[in-house]
Parts: sequence; structure tokens; C-alpha cells
Amino acid sequence: MKIGIIGTGHVGGTLGSRWAQGGHDVTFGTRHPDSPEIQNLLAKSGGSARAATVAQAVANSAVVLLATPWNAARDAIAGAGNLSGKVLIDAMNPLLPDMSGLAAGTTTSAGELVAQWAPEARVVKAFNSVGYNTMAEPVFGDERAVMFYCGDDTGAKQTVRDLAAQLGFDPVDAGPLNRARLLEPFALLWISLAYGGYSREIGFRFMRREARAGA
Ligand SMILES: NC(=O)c1ccc[n+]([C@@H]2O[C@H](COP(=O)([O-])OP(=O)(O)OC[C@H]3O[C@@H](n4cnc5c(N)ncnc54)[C@H](OP(=O)(O)O)[C@@H]3O)[C@@H](O)[C@H]2O)c1
Repeated sequence: MKIGIIGTGHVGGTLGSRWAQGGHDVTFGTRHPDSPEIQNLLAKSGGSARAATVAQAVANSAVVLLATPWNAARDAIAGAGNLSGKVLIDAMNPLLPDMSGLAAGTTTSAGELVAQWAPEARVVKAFNSVGYNTMAEPVFGDERAVMFYCGDDTGAKQTVRDLAAQLGFDPVDAGPLNRARLLEPFALLWISLAYGGYSREIGFRFMRREARAGA
């Protein structure tokens, strides 16, 4: 799979390098392709990963991960070029600067705003509800951390499901894109637990059993 990364920091760097290590064709879209951070990322990612401008990374890719700070998202999309038909994974949380809450929510979400700003892309919300360190290692003992995702395009969701499963997550379809209204506040729960004494080394588990008759 050809994957472009917009936002090559903690989240984009972790997911991009893991996908590259797993055999995907990854292009890191960056404003600083020659920086030591990007060169380190390429070294960690393996031979096939490359750095390019954001627009080149998008043009090269069928799947694009958007992992910038929320306040940069609209500019990043505007500079991304033609996103038509691409699977656009929104991993962002619209956090207030002090992380006390969300700048968008309850009646809309970052995921839905991204879809408005990139109307021809196939937006899937995913990878927003655990820390990048858990994206690096989603398996805890013999248990896989859940990764909820949501979106309105069935094929795009299947692609994201596969990409999450390849990393080791237990991917769970949370429904249409407007469920991002729930997944983004869920990230606040993760943040409050991580910084409230449990540390960043946490994940969530999803349990299922057969529905009972009449339930
Ligand atoms: N950190 C986590 O554990 C975590 C977990 C889940 C979700 N998230 C969400 O994921 C997003 C990224 O978080 P992060 O921790 O990875 O942030 P980060 O480490 O600060 O990285 C942000 C990246 O975005 C790039 N960027 C900023 N403005 C840009 C623009 N206009 N065009 C292209 N690239 C731009 C930065 O590049 P420069 O170096 O050029 O500025 C940097 O590479 C946030 O929305 C956050 O809420 C974070």
C-alpha cells in the first residue's frame, strides 16, 4: 500500500515507520526533508521509505495519514493538493492548548471538519484514542489494545482496519464518521488517565460475546 504521512511527529513518525517496516511504501510529507529528525525517521523506517513535500507525499499515495496539531490541520489540507478518492486517516484530536477539553465537539468533530475541508477524500477517523507509544507496541502480553475507527466509506474503513490489525491492534468499527464526536472525547479519557497516574503505557480492551435472545 502506498501511504503518505502529513505530520511526521510522534504519531506520524511512529505509524509511518511501523507501516514501512511492515512492507508498505511510505512517503513522509514534510516541510523539512533534510532535517536530522526526518533523516533519523528514514533510517528507522527501512530502505523503501522516503521524504518529500506534503503535496508530493499525497500525490504518491492511495492512503494519507493526517497527524498534525489540530490548529495546523486546515492549512495542511490546503497544501496537500488533490486528495480525491484517497483514504484520509484523521488521527488528530482538536485539543485546547492546555489539554483541558476540545476545541470542537458534541455537535461536530475534527473528523467531520476534515471531511468538509477535503470533500473528495474518503475520511476515516482512527489512531486518535491512544498514545503514540501504544501505537508503537499495541500488544500487552497476549492482549491487543482496541483501535476504534469510524467513517462513511466502507472500503476506506476496511483499508484502515487492515492497517490497524497489521500493527497489532484489535480494530473495531465504531460506525459512521459522526462517531468521531465520541472518539475524540474518548481521547481525553486516555489523556487524563495517562497523566493522572497510570502513565502512557496503557491501552483499552474491547470484549464481545454472543448476543442473548431478546436482548
Ligand atoms: N502524541 C500522541 O500520543 C497522540 C495520540 C493520538 C493522537 N494525537 C494527535 O495527533 C496529532 C499529532 O500529534 P503529535 O504528538 O504527533 O504531534 P507532534 O509530535 O508535535 O508532530 C506534529 C507534526 O505536524 C507537523 N506539522 C505542523 N504543521 C504542519 C503543516 N501546516 N503542514 C505539514 N505538517 C505540519 C510538524 O512538522 P514541523 O516539524 O515541520 O512543525 C510535526 O511533524 C495531534 O492532533 C494530536 O492531538 C497525538
